[in-house]
Amino acid sequence: MKTAIETIDFNGLEAIRLTGPRGTTAVVSLLGGQLLSWVTHDGRERLYLSPKAVFDGSLPIRGGVPVCFPQFGTEGDMPRHGFLRTCRWRVASQRHAEDFALLTLEIADDEASRAIWPHAFRAEITFMLEADRVDLEFCVENTGGTSFAFTGALHTYLRTTQVEDVALEGLYGHQYRDDAADHQTLRDSGTELRVESEVDRVYFDVKRPQLLQAGNLSLGIHSRGFPDVVIWNPWVDKAVAMKDLPDDGWRHFLCVEAAAVGQAIEVPAGEEWYGRQTLVVV
Ligand code: BG6
Repeated sequence: MKTAIETIDFNGLEAIRLTGPRGTTAVVSLLGGQLLSWVTHDGRERLYLSPKAVFDGSLPIRGGVPVCFPQFGTEGDMPRHGFLRTCRWRVASQRHAEDFALLTLEIADDEASRAIWPHAFRAEITFMLEADRVDLEFCVENTGGTSFAFTGALHTYLRTTQVEDVALEGLYGHQYRDDAADHQTLRDSGTELRVESEVDRVYFDVKRPQLLQAGNLSLGIHSRGFPDVVIWNPWVDKAVAMKDLPDDGWRHFLCVEAAAVGQAIEVPAGEEWYGRQTLVVV
């Protein structure tokens, strides 16, 4: 099957569909600059998109890979996870060849963004789809005259059949802040993480990749540039309270986020910063 890039309508959203080698596909929404779907060559959807997601921009789209910038969560005074999730991005470039399909979206500050965060910036997100992997590279350029700092994340919702059956490896020995337990700082002492209640953790300074395993499905997750990894699942009660998630939605995803939370990233005037998350079928 040939690779391709085309504009499609996705639930009323303007979106781009990438067809990669071996029939893999990815769908990227211009609203949010957000990957919404990644189907691997075995025909499996690997990302979770809530059946109750809102696509009109009044809320961030619940699922896929939201881009959180320039604030992670409630670390500052901005709306949760910053403002980019509900902004419209533009196509900067696209290219496909025999063994890949690649799309870059871009966005820059405007009057609305400067009212929330008074800095000049340009951001790019590149989606590179290959036979067995997808790479998301986020680039932030400081186009102003003074340095700025940001926190943020690629807030990846990995699809699970039953999150209780998932084992996540790779975080053993790391220090984490447990946001589901009074923000205590703890050290991970289990060889694998299992979800048996609400999980909301920031793991600091993670250099190793993670491996998500459930039955015969496994996925490698690797980040560069982003120092931290956030693991989130709302579990039963918090899911019921979320209007854009079905009551049993918590069961069908685990967020494994490439994040910068513990220490804000400084971008001096005129400079750029890059961070990446790679998802690989193993
Ligand atoms: C996670 C945070 O990254 O995102 C959680 O750690 C938060 O605390 C979750 O609840 C979802 O945030 P939102 O704004 O998409 O509902």
